[in-house]
Amino acid sequence: MDLHVVILAAGQGTRMKSSLPKVLHPVAGKPMVQHVVDTARTLSPASITVVYGHGGDQVCAALANADVPLVEQAEQLGTGHAVAQALPVLPETGRLLVLYGDVPLTRADTLKVFCEGTQGLGILTVHLENPTGYGRIVRDELDRITGIVEQKDATADQLQIREVNTGIMCMPIEALRRWIPQLGNQNAQGEYYLTDIVALAVQDGLPVTAAHPHHVWEVEGVNNRLQLAALERQYQQNQAERLMTDGVTVLDPARLDVRGDVEVGPDSVLDVNVVLEGTVRIGRNVTIGAGCVIRNSTIGDGVEIAPYSVLEDATVDGGNSIGPFARLRPGAHLHEGAKVGNFVEVKKAEIGPGSKVNHLTYIGDATIGANVNVGAGTITCNYDGVNKFRTVLEDDVFIGSNTALVAPVTVGKGATVGAGSVITKDVPEGELAVARGKQMTIRGWQRPVKQK
Ligand code: UD1
Ligand code: CA
Repeated sequence: MDLHVVILAAGQGTRMKSSLPKVLHPVAGKPMVQHVVDTARTLSPASITVVYGHGGDQVCAALANADVPLVEQAEQLGTGHAVAQALPVLPETGRLLVLYGDVPLTRADTLKVFCEGTQGLGILTVHLENPTGYGRIVRDELDRITGIVEQKDATADQLQIREVNTGIMCMPIEALRRWIPQLGNQNAQGEYYLTDIVALAVQDGLPVTAAHPHHVWEVEGVNNRLQLAALERQYQQNQAERLMTDGVTVLDPARLDVRGDVEVGPDSVLDVNVVLEGTVRIGRNVTIGAGCVIRNSTIGDGVEIAPYSVLEDATVDGGNSIGPFARLRPGAHLHEGAKVGNFVEVKKAEIGPGSKVNHLTYIGDATIGANVNVGAGTITCNYDGVNKFRTVLEDDVFIGSNTALVAPVTVGKGATVGAGSVITKDVPEGELAVARGKQMTIRGWQRPVKQK
């Protein structure tokens, strides 16, 4: 039978004290509701519908690329009312899985087992030391579920129950259509509770069963920024554990942040305070030093990145050494064995195999061949204030320190440029170019002396 998913995301999130709707607050750089959508998608459901309310424009804008139907719940009259808003876009039959937009870390596996194992009405429940605030699972003497009672409506006895409703439920859509109109709001909060469908299912003689996640954090929601931080840390711990299981050495699992789709090969080492963002592919035997930030980049095998280097949209082929304090900007491509040292910035540039740019240099809009040596303090002057121009350094070129390469300019294969030159014209292959004031000696010159 087809599975459909409804994600409840209309709640206000007052305790976040934010102008951003709660479900858009990020965990690992991604809005919470997007985590839920992505997890739901792994179940290959026939549809995913998001019920939004507060901050509607922002939620719609954030999910514009997610390609999921959005349904508005103009007034937040309770979880039952929220699900009712989605009924018109759901088919007559099939099964419905209800998720919350502020519960970001549920594992796909847990949901899969839960949905596949549920016949009638399924409730994902957990046993908590401190169940305060949650709806309690009420069972009869034969341990059969008879209902859910909310904290505010519970008797003193019911408050002792430690098994709680996580809010995640699975049910036949046909039955739900029967139950929804029967929900009332005669309760302590004056809300239409989705949880009241449990008693209705029991009345209908439909089996009501509970399943449990492996970990409590999978069903923890976010109501304030403390809980947000706690789930962020949990997510990061999960990522560090995943990488270590894959054969990566993580020097301190509590000081690594992964925000995106990140793969790291075996025998690579991640030092403390490394941040990996976006789509990052790191090969085998790669060492990443303390404090490096790597975003949307591909790094080949055996690369060594020394501390405090920042890479964005960069490609590093393999066997390279980078940093410390290097910056690779979008379009930087280091071929096999190329080296980029401290305080070097590279943008939109190819650096050929075995070439070295080791100290205090800016390489922008350039093509550098193989085995080129770029001396300290060299600058590609790529920008005239309006247009950008390319610099080409062919194979085996040697650029002396503190050279300004005024683009567009080409230095031919095997040519040498003397230190301190300002190169405005192409340098022919194999020749030496020097473009600087000639040194002279003024004999007998005296320093000025202080006048009385
Ligand atoms: C709900 C459950 C409770 C469960 C708890 C788990 C009900 C009546 N109670 O309580 O049994 O233990 O979750 O966290 O279902 N929402 C809407 N529209 C609304 C109301 C809520 O979209 O009108 C969304 C919220 O954005 C949130 C979710 O539904 O994502 C849960 O709402 P919340 O108010 O937090 O429910 P609880 O009172 O915590
Ligand atoms: Ca809640």
